[in-house]
Amino acid sequence: MSTRSDHSRTGEKVSPIYSFMDVVAREAEEYAAVHTTPMSPLLEEIERFTLTRTLYPSMLTGRVQGRFLQLVVQLSGARCIVDIGTFTGYSAMAMAEALPPDGRILTIDHNPEHARLARDFFSRSPAGNRITLRLGEALDILKSLPDGRTDLVFIDADKRNYIAYYEESMRMVRDGGLILADNALWYGRIFDPRDDDSRAVAAFNERVQGDDRAVKLFLTIRDGIYLIRKKGRDAGS
Ligand SMILES: C[S@@+](CC[C@H](N)C(=O)[O-])C[C@H]1O[C@@H](n2cnc3c(N)ncnc32)[C@H](O)[C@@H]1O
Repeated sequence: MSTRSDHSRTGEKVSPIYSFMDVVAREAEEYAAVHTTPMSPLLEEIERFTLTRTLYPSMLTGRVQGRFLQLVVQLSGARCIVDIGTFTGYSAMAMAEALPPDGRILTIDHNPEHARLARDFFSRSPAGNRITLRLGEALDILKSLPDGRTDLVFIDADKRNYIAYYEESMRMVRDGGLILADNALWYGRIFDPRDDDSRAVAAFNERVQGDDRAVKLFLTIRDGIYLIRKKGRDAGS
Protein backbone atom coordinates (compact mmCIF):
# COMPACT_ATOMS: atom_id res chain seq x y z
CA MET A 1 0.00 0.00 0.00
CA SER A 2 1.26 3.45 -0.87
CA THR A 3 0.89 5.96 1.91
CA ARG A 4 1.85 9.55 2.50
CA SER A 5 4.92 8.23 4.33
CA ASP A 6 6.04 6.58 1.06
CA HIS A 7 6.01 10.01 -0.56
CA SER A 8 8.58 11.16 1.96
CA ARG A 9 10.82 8.21 1.04
CA THR A 10 10.67 9.12 -2.67
CA GLY A 11 12.05 12.55 -1.78
CA GLU A 12 8.95 14.53 -2.72
CA LYS A 13 8.49 17.72 -0.73
CA VAL A 14 5.81 16.93 1.83
CA SER A 15 4.95 18.33 5.20
CA PRO A 16 6.57 16.48 8.16
CA ILE A 17 3.07 15.91 9.51
CA TYR A 18 2.73 12.96 7.12
CA SER A 19 5.41 10.96 8.92
CA PHE A 20 3.12 10.44 11.92
CA MET A 21 -0.17 10.71 10.05
CA ASP A 22 -0.80 6.95 9.88
CA VAL A 23 -0.52 6.57 13.65
CA VAL A 24 -2.67 9.62 14.29
CA ALA A 25 -5.25 8.36 11.80
CA ARG A 26 -5.50 4.97 13.53
CA GLU A 27 -5.79 6.53 16.99
CA ALA A 28 -8.28 9.07 15.69
CA GLU A 29 -10.40 6.27 14.20
CA GLU A 30 -10.52 4.40 17.51
CA TYR A 31 -11.23 7.61 19.42
CA ALA A 32 -14.01 8.52 16.98
CA ALA A 33 -15.65 5.10 17.40
CA VAL A 34 -15.58 5.33 21.21
CA HIS A 35 -17.07 8.84 21.08
CA THR A 36 -19.87 7.91 18.68
CA THR A 37 -23.26 6.67 19.88
CA PRO A 38 -23.36 2.86 19.58
CA MET A 39 -25.59 1.44 16.89
CA SER A 40 -28.66 -0.74 17.47
CA PRO A 41 -28.08 -4.26 18.86
CA LEU A 42 -28.79 -5.73 15.40
CA LEU A 43 -26.20 -3.48 13.70
CA GLU A 44 -23.65 -4.27 16.43
CA GLU A 45 -24.36 -7.97 15.76
CA ILE A 46 -23.93 -7.51 11.98
CA GLU A 47 -20.61 -5.80 12.70
CA ARG A 48 -19.39 -8.61 15.01
CA PHE A 49 -20.52 -11.27 12.54
CA THR A 50 -18.82 -9.54 9.62
CA LEU A 51 -15.55 -9.00 11.48
CA THR A 52 -15.31 -12.60 12.71
CA ARG A 53 -17.08 -14.73 10.09
CA THR A 54 -16.53 -13.22 6.64
CA LEU A 55 -13.50 -13.20 4.35
CA TYR A 56 -13.36 -9.43 3.79
CA PRO A 57 -14.27 -7.71 7.07
CA SER A 58 -12.64 -4.45 5.93
CA MET A 59 -15.54 -4.00 3.46
CA LEU A 60 -17.84 -3.30 6.42
CA THR A 61 -19.08 0.26 6.88
CA GLY A 62 -19.05 0.14 10.70
CA ARG A 63 -20.18 2.38 13.54
CA VAL A 64 -18.75 5.81 12.70
CA GLN A 65 -19.74 5.74 9.06
CA GLY A 66 -23.05 4.04 9.86
CA ARG A 67 -23.97 6.74 12.35
CA PHE A 68 -22.88 9.38 9.83
CA LEU A 69 -25.16 7.84 7.18
CA GLN A 70 -28.05 7.79 9.65
CA LEU A 71 -27.58 11.47 10.48
CA VAL A 72 -27.35 12.40 6.79
CA VAL A 73 -30.62 10.54 6.14
CA GLN A 74 -32.33 12.24 9.09
CA LEU A 75 -30.97 15.74 8.37
CA SER A 76 -31.78 15.57 4.65
CA GLY A 77 -35.24 14.05 5.12
CA ALA A 78 -34.42 11.41 2.47
CA ARG A 79 -37.20 8.87 1.83
CA CYS A 80 -36.05 7.10 -1.31
CA ILE A 81 -32.51 5.66 -1.10
CA VAL A 82 -30.34 3.46 -3.32
CA ASP A 83 -27.49 1.53 -1.64
CA ILE A 84 -24.96 0.15 -4.17
CA GLY A 85 -23.09 -2.78 -2.58
CA THR A 86 -25.03 -4.60 0.16
CA PHE A 87 -22.41 -7.03 1.56
CA THR A 88 -23.78 -8.17 4.97
CA GLY A 89 -26.35 -5.37 4.95
CA TYR A 90 -24.80 -2.88 7.37
CA SER A 91 -25.20 0.37 5.41
CA ALA A 92 -28.69 -0.56 4.18
CA MET A 93 -29.84 -1.50 7.70
CA ALA A 94 -28.27 1.62 9.24
CA MET A 95 -30.04 3.91 6.76
CA ALA A 96 -33.32 1.94 7.06
CA GLU A 97 -33.36 2.53 10.82
CA ALA A 98 -33.06 6.29 10.19
CA LEU A 99 -35.92 6.44 7.67
CA PRO A 100 -39.52 7.34 8.47
CA PRO A 101 -41.96 4.38 8.19
CA ASP A 102 -42.82 5.20 4.56
CA GLY A 103 -39.16 5.47 3.53
CA ARG A 104 -37.66 2.90 1.13
CA ILE A 105 -34.18 1.59 0.33
CA LEU A 106 -33.16 -0.41 -2.71
CA THR A 107 -29.91 -2.25 -1.99
CA ILE A 108 -28.00 -4.05 -4.76
CA ASP A 109 -25.41 -6.83 -4.72
CA HIS A 110 -24.33 -9.42 -7.29
CA ASN A 111 -23.03 -11.95 -4.76
CA PRO A 112 -25.74 -14.51 -3.79
CA GLU A 113 -24.03 -15.42 -0.51
CA HIS A 114 -23.86 -11.76 0.56
CA ALA A 115 -27.51 -11.35 -0.42
CA ARG A 116 -28.50 -14.40 1.67
CA LEU A 117 -26.66 -13.13 4.76
CA ALA A 118 -28.10 -9.62 4.40
CA ARG A 119 -31.65 -10.89 3.89
CA ASP A 120 -31.37 -12.95 7.10
CA PHE A 121 -30.39 -9.83 9.04
CA PHE A 122 -33.06 -7.64 7.38
CA SER A 123 -35.76 -10.17 8.33
CA ARG A 124 -34.96 -9.68 12.01
CA SER A 125 -35.91 -5.99 12.25
CA PRO A 126 -39.14 -4.08 11.54
CA ALA A 127 -36.98 -1.53 9.68
CA GLY A 128 -35.97 -4.39 7.37
CA ASN A 129 -39.41 -4.04 5.74
CA ARG A 130 -38.19 -0.76 4.23
CA ILE A 131 -35.41 -2.56 2.36
CA THR A 132 -35.64 -4.29 -1.03
CA LEU A 133 -32.57 -6.29 -2.02
CA ARG A 134 -31.97 -6.90 -5.73
CA LEU A 135 -29.45 -9.50 -6.76
CA GLY A 136 -27.59 -8.56 -9.93
CA GLU A 137 -25.10 -6.28 -11.64
CA ALA A 138 -25.46 -2.86 -10.06
CA LEU A 139 -25.05 -0.88 -13.27
CA ASP A 140 -27.79 -2.85 -15.09
CA ILE A 141 -30.18 -2.33 -12.18
CA LEU A 142 -29.38 1.38 -11.87
CA LYS A 143 -30.09 1.87 -15.58
CA SER A 144 -33.62 0.53 -15.02
CA LEU A 145 -34.41 3.20 -12.37
CA PRO A 146 -36.31 6.39 -13.26
CA ASP A 147 -34.87 9.92 -13.60
CA GLY A 148 -34.95 12.35 -10.68
CA ARG A 149 -36.87 10.25 -8.17
CA THR A 150 -34.13 9.23 -5.71
CA ASP A 151 -33.19 11.34 -2.68
CA LEU A 152 -29.87 9.72 -1.78
CA VAL A 153 -27.44 7.19 -3.27
CA PHE A 154 -24.66 5.46 -1.32
CA ILE A 155 -21.97 4.11 -3.68
CA ASP A 156 -19.93 1.30 -2.10
CA ALA A 157 -19.31 -1.45 -4.68
CA ASP A 158 -16.61 -2.21 -7.30
CA LYS A 159 -14.28 0.76 -7.71
CA ARG A 160 -13.84 0.42 -11.48
CA ASN A 161 -17.50 1.31 -11.99
CA TYR A 162 -17.50 4.32 -9.65
CA ILE A 163 -17.68 6.88 -12.47
CA ALA A 164 -20.49 4.93 -14.18
CA TYR A 165 -22.35 4.66 -10.85
CA TYR A 166 -21.87 8.39 -10.33
CA GLU A 167 -23.26 9.28 -13.76
CA GLU A 168 -26.32 7.05 -13.21
CA SER A 169 -26.76 8.49 -9.73
CA MET A 170 -26.69 12.07 -11.08
CA ARG A 171 -29.49 11.06 -13.45
CA MET A 172 -31.51 9.27 -10.75
CA VAL A 173 -31.30 11.80 -7.91
CA ARG A 174 -33.65 14.75 -7.76
CA ASP A 175 -32.34 18.32 -7.74
CA GLY A 176 -30.83 18.85 -4.29
CA GLY A 177 -30.42 15.08 -3.83
CA LEU A 178 -27.30 13.54 -2.31
CA ILE A 179 -24.68 11.07 -3.49
CA LEU A 180 -22.16 9.61 -1.04
CA ALA A 181 -19.22 7.58 -2.30
CA ASP A 182 -17.30 5.40 0.15
CA ASN A 183 -13.55 4.62 0.02
CA ALA A 184 -12.73 7.92 -1.64
CA LEU A 185 -9.28 7.76 0.02
CA TRP A 186 -8.84 4.09 -0.96
CA TYR A 187 -6.37 3.43 1.87
CA GLY A 188 -4.22 6.34 0.65
CA ARG A 189 -3.50 4.65 -2.70
CA ILE A 190 -5.12 7.54 -4.57
CA PHE A 191 -2.03 9.65 -3.83
CA ASP A 192 0.10 7.34 -5.96
CA PRO A 193 -2.26 5.04 -7.90
CA ARG A 194 -0.49 1.92 -9.17
CA ASP A 195 -3.33 -0.52 -9.87
CA ASP A 196 -6.65 -0.38 -11.69
CA ASP A 197 -8.83 0.09 -8.59
CA SER A 198 -6.63 2.90 -7.26
CA ARG A 199 -6.60 4.62 -10.66
CA ALA A 200 -10.39 4.22 -10.84
CA VAL A 201 -10.98 5.88 -7.45
CA ALA A 202 -8.49 8.67 -8.25
CA ALA A 203 -10.22 9.27 -11.63
CA PHE A 204 -13.62 9.25 -9.93
CA ASN A 205 -12.49 11.89 -7.42
CA GLU A 206 -11.21 14.09 -10.28
CA ARG A 207 -14.45 13.61 -12.22
CA VAL A 208 -16.52 14.71 -9.24
CA GLN A 209 -14.25 17.61 -8.39
CA GLY A 210 -14.57 18.98 -11.93
CA ASP A 211 -18.33 18.51 -12.16
CA ASP A 212 -20.17 21.86 -12.11
CA ARG A 213 -23.52 20.10 -11.66
CA ALA A 214 -22.67 19.34 -8.04
CA VAL A 215 -21.53 20.84 -4.74
CA LYS A 216 -19.02 18.53 -3.09
CA LEU A 217 -17.35 17.96 0.25
CA PHE A 218 -14.49 15.47 0.58
CA LEU A 219 -14.66 13.98 4.07
CA THR A 220 -11.73 12.13 5.65
CA ILE A 221 -14.03 9.97 7.78
CA ARG A 222 -12.55 6.45 7.91
CA ASP A 223 -11.48 5.58 4.31
CA GLY A 224 -12.92 8.81 2.92
CA ILE A 225 -16.47 9.70 1.92
CA TYR A 226 -17.16 11.99 -1.02
CA LEU A 227 -20.39 13.84 -0.17
CA ILE A 228 -22.04 15.31 -3.25
CA ARG A 229 -25.20 17.38 -3.63
CA LYS A 230 -26.79 17.70 -7.05
CA LYS A 231 -27.47 21.33 -7.92
CA GLY A 232 -30.72 22.21 -9.58
CA ARG A 233 -32.89 25.09 -10.65
CA ASP A 234 -34.60 25.36 -7.28
CA ALA A 235 -32.06 23.50 -5.16
CA GLY A 236 -29.61 26.35 -4.53
CA SER A 237 -25.86 25.98 -4.90
C1 LIG B 1 -17.58 -2.76 0.23
S1 LIG B 1 -18.83 -3.98 0.09
C2 LIG B 1 -20.28 -3.11 0.60
C3 LIG B 1 -20.29 -2.83 2.09
C4 LIG B 1 -21.64 -2.40 2.61
N1 LIG B 1 -22.12 -1.18 2.00
C5 LIG B 1 -21.59 -2.25 4.12
O1 LIG B 1 -22.11 -1.29 4.65
O2 LIG B 1 -21.02 -3.08 4.82
C6 LIG B 1 -19.03 -4.11 -1.66
C7 LIG B 1 -20.14 -5.05 -2.12
O3 LIG B 1 -20.38 -4.77 -3.49
C8 LIG B 1 -20.67 -5.97 -4.17
N2 LIG B 1 -20.35 -5.76 -5.59
C9 LIG B 1 -19.13 -5.62 -6.16
N3 LIG B 1 -19.23 -5.41 -7.47
C10 LIG B 1 -20.56 -5.40 -7.77
C11 LIG B 1 -21.31 -5.22 -8.97
N4 LIG B 1 -20.70 -5.02 -10.14
N5 LIG B 1 -22.66 -5.27 -8.90
C12 LIG B 1 -23.27 -5.49 -7.71
N6 LIG B 1 -22.62 -5.67 -6.54
C13 LIG B 1 -21.27 -5.63 -6.56
C14 LIG B 1 -19.79 -7.02 -3.48
O4 LIG B 1 -20.34 -8.32 -3.66
C15 LIG B 1 -19.79 -6.54 -2.03
O5 LIG B 1 -20.76 -7.23 -1.28
